[in-house]
This record gives sequence, C-alpha cells and structure tokens, in this order.
Amino acid sequence: MLFGLCVIRRCQALDIPRILEIEYVSFKQDDVYSEDLLRFLCAYCNDHSYVYVTSGGVVGYIITCIEGNAAHVISIAVAPGYRRRGVGRALLCTALQLLATGKVAEVFLEVRVSNTPALSLYRAAGFEISEMIKSYYGDGEDGYRLVLRDKKRAREFCLDVKEKLHQV
Ligand SMILES: CC(C)(COP(=O)(O)OP(=O)(O)OC[C@H]1O[C@@H](n2cnc3c(N)ncnc32)[C@H](O)[C@@H]1OP(=O)(O)O)[C@@H](O)C(=O)NCCC(=O)NCCS
Repeated sequence: MLFGLCVIRRCQALDIPRILEIEYVSFKQDDVYSEDLLRFLCAYCNDHSYVYVTSGGVVGYIITCIEGNAAHVISIAVAPGYRRRGVGRALLCTALQLLATGKVAEVFLEVRVSNTPALSLYRAAGFEISEMIKSYYGDGEDGYRLVLRDKKRAREFCLDVKEKLHQV
C-alpha cells in the first residue's frame, strides 16, 4: 500500500529493533513485548503484520494474527511524533480489510480501560465492547475486549484512509 512517499509493508526481522523502540515509548513497561516475542510474532503472523514507513524510517506498526475465523490485533503503536496524522487508522485498516473482504468474521483486540486515544480510534472504527476483563494487565488494570463484526462499518472507516493521512 502506498501513501505518497510513505508505504505500508509487511514486518521484517530487520524492523524489530525499531518496533521495540516504539513499544518502549508507547506502552507502560509491563506491557512492552520482549524482542524475542516481537521477532516470533512478526514471523508467525507475518501475513497480516505491517510497518508504516516514511522517508525517515518506520514510524508505526501493527501485529495481527489469525485465530480461527477471527483476526486478533495483538499490538498497534505509532511513534509519539507521528500521532494524530492518520497513521494508526491506516495501520488498523490492514486488519479491517480482512473483515471487509470476508476473510474473517470478526476483528478483536484488548485495550486498557484508561487508554482514551486507542479507545477513540477503535470506537471511530465501530468496535464495541464484548467483555470487560478484570485485572487483565500486569499492574492490575482492567481491560476491554473489543470486537468488530460489521463489514460495512469496517469498509466505511477505511474508505477515506488516504485522505485522512496528513504529510508525515
Ligand atoms: C492509539 C494510536 C495507535 C493511534 O494512532 P494515531 O496515528 O495517533 O491515530 P490516527 O491519527 O490514525 O487517529 C484516527 C482517529 O482515532 C481517534 N484518535 C486517535 N488518537 C486520539 C486521541 N489522542 N484523542 C482522541 N481521539 C483520538 C480520532 O478519532 C482519530 O481521528 P481524527 O484524527 O480524524 O480525529 C496511538 O495513539 C498510539 O500509538 N498509542 C500508544 C500505543 C497504544 O496505546 N496502542 C493501542 C494499544 S490497545
């Protein structure tokens, strides 16, 4: 996928150090995945795991794994200086495309109840709370499991993804 001078391409092993850097500045320490786990996920879920690359390098990533008839967004993050420019939406749309094109029946993910920016993104995409998971996170915070099954919503959210991308 090409957006001006930027590109979304599959995650490669050489991207792992940069993904790890973005993890460290994006998540609480408890939530940061180990380098080995990221390496494994990038390889094992390679068909649906992407990085967003600008002329300056990788600025965001998404890891999505297929679980049965569902796509599970395992992790998504955008480097702080590149947020609110449509990068997260573009990355999320790589997973929503799986729903929009009928390859899966649902997309689901977990999010901290306090993570307002991420919840805003997911709500805008049409995700709904399927369950609240008590003490889901290492520090005891609860999590929401969110699910999106509405293909039309997924399609609509991703229709104008290019227009929403500002110069990055
Ligand atoms: C969540 C995250 C990936 C969003 O990435 P992003 O590139 O900033 O998102 P976008 O610019 O594509 O935003 C798309 C929409 O999401 C919503 N949104 C995103 N960030 C928001 C914020 N800080 N406040 C309110 N709404 C927000 C808005 O509806 C936005 O559309 P708009 O800009 O037209 O209003 C980013 O904030 C991030 O990396 N956070 C830290 C890591 C994280 O929490 N990951 C999710 C774990 S579950």
